[in-house]
Amino acid sequence: MVDLSTSYMGLTLKNPIIVGSSGLTNSPDKIKEFEEKGAGAVVLKSIFEEQIRFDIHKTLEFEDTYNLSQEAFDYVKSTMKDNSVSHYMNLIREVKKNVSIPAIASINCFTMSEWISIAKDIEKAGADGLELNVFIMPGKLDISGAEHEKMYFEIIENIKKTVKIPVALKTGYYFSNIVHTLKQFSWRGIQALVLFNRFFTPDINLETMKLQVANVFSKPEEQYIPLRWIAMIAGDVRCDISASTGIHDAPAVIRQLLAGATTTQLCSTLYLHGADQIRIILEGLTQWMEAHKFNQISAFRGKMSVKAHENPVLYHRVQYLKHLSGME
Ligand SMILES: Cc1cc2nc3c(=O)[nH]c(=O)nc-3n(C[C@H](O)[C@H](O)[C@H](O)COP(=O)(O)O)c2cc1C
Repeated sequence: MVDLSTSYMGLTLKNPIIVGSSGLTNSPDKIKEFEEKGAGAVVLKSIFEEQIRFDIHKTLEFEDTYNLSQEAFDYVKSTMKDNSVSHYMNLIREVKKNVSIPAIASINCFTMSEWISIAKDIEKAGADGLELNVFIMPGKLDISGAEHEKMYFEIIENIKKTVKIPVALKTGYYFSNIVHTLKQFSWRGIQALVLFNRFFTPDINLETMKLQVANVFSKPEEQYIPLRWIAMIAGDVRCDISASTGIHDAPAVIRQLLAGATTTQLCSTLYLHGADQIRIILEGLTQWMEAHKFNQISAFRGKMSVKAHENPVLYHRVQYLKHLSGME
């Protein structure tokens, strides 16, 4: 009988499958269903900094930064109306009342403002942890990489001073030396790094020559982005790692655990295939562990990380030398 339990951010999870922050986790009913299908934990839909400010017109000033389409702006606007801060605190309380798996709240922030007091409210409402969903667009010519990273450090340090519940940082991969930067983040007292968030991507419609939203949902091929970087930092960061992006099935979950992730977060696959996908993935994980005679996740977690593997050269390789030279 295999034991799928794992420790994440100091919380005990019955298995490493977390439902990622999204519209899937914005109601107690939906979360209850994920619990019934076997999820180990959920990350609630983020409360956005714009909501925290509760000032729709302020959002317009940030239009450049966000490059929002009309639809996206309307969405943010209606989300702001629907999901006020008190609504979010009620969500946490309701989830805690009805669901027994850990519920991690999520704040999307890009500056330091009222979210510090909101973080305290989140803790008071009973959230088991707090995921900081931080992405500061590296799109200004006059800001160096170091200055850019300093903004993240300030956010982490301030939030760590504010709450006692465990804190995770969910971020992207646009850093000049990502391995060094992730290590630096982990030294600032966070309990986990969530790698990576998947961002709104602009696309160009060739007929209308207007901007549109590129794929909202990830594709399984995207799993290799977190895989490489998780393998590179596992064992070298002072916190847990949760893999996110492109994890659609049991093999993808197993790969991330082998690379060194403590947990995996699912989103697109649940939108595309429904909550039952969790049960299917857990069955696949169990069967694989049985076939390889692993009784616990810790028996194989990180086995394929750069630190643990006897020949991790492929993680470092960036050019397809062999493949290119062999091609006509
Ligand atoms: C429709 C949708 C809404 C999302 N909303 C949030 C959010 O509110 N906060 C957040 O941190 N991530 C959000 N995400 C990102 C997901 O949590 C996840 O990190 C990303 O989709 C990559 O995982 P996936 O490949 O399993 O989809 C959202 C993703 C989707 C598709």
